[in-house]
Amino acid sequence: MRIHVVDHPLVAHKLTTLRDKRTDSPTFRRLSDELVTLLAYEATRDVRTEQVDIESPVCATTGVKLSHPRPLVVPILRAGLGMLDGMVRLLPTAEVGFLGMIRNEETLKAETYATRMPDDLSGRQVYVLDPMLATGGTLVAAINELIERGADDVTAITLLAAPEGVEVMQRDLAGAPVTVVTASVDERLNEAGYIVPGLGDAGDRMYGTA
Ligand code: URA
Repeated sequence: MRIHVVDHPLVAHKLTTLRDKRTDSPTFRRLSDELVTLLAYEATRDVRTEQVDIESPVCATTGVKLSHPRPLVVPILRAGLGMLDGMVRLLPTAEVGFLGMIRNEETLKAETYATRMPDDLSGRQVYVLDPMLATGGTLVAAINELIERGADDVTAITLLAAPEGVEVMQRDLAGAPVTVVTASVDERLNEAGYIVPGLGDAGDRMYGTA
């Protein structure tokens, strides 16, 4: 598992406004959308392409286009949905799958309650969207599900990460073909499971509901 913290003044600027508790839901949604597009630019640096021959108005030349099978984008419900538009803006030809994850209150483990994606992910690049890498439980479970379906190249895009969650991913996905791209690794998780300083509950701030 590799982690890539995107170091860019525009990323830092947008993230600061997202953190600000005075930022309302419409602004929060717009800024996270813009931030995801910036993160997606970095996250797709190794997207697979193939060479093509084309003709410009001036002459024949060669270029590249995205390879087949097309990349798969998988938002984790609910808050990952708020990242989908910002991602597919850069990858409009990607296919989109969905993963609904919930914590089992008895085992405290993340479990899948809804899945919509191809059964066979071998040979596909998969981009998983989840705004907050907190304990790491959800992302590890989601990525294991993708790997079980044959995914051999997974990139998780998160707005924020906690060091505790990064550690769990490094332990549980050691050696797995996984990269995490994030705008910041914050200080810590608090007793309530919130990232500090963080930005609060990402789903609530996006959708304005409790
Ligand atoms: N999920 C959130 O939405 N916020 C946090 O700080 C941690 C997990």
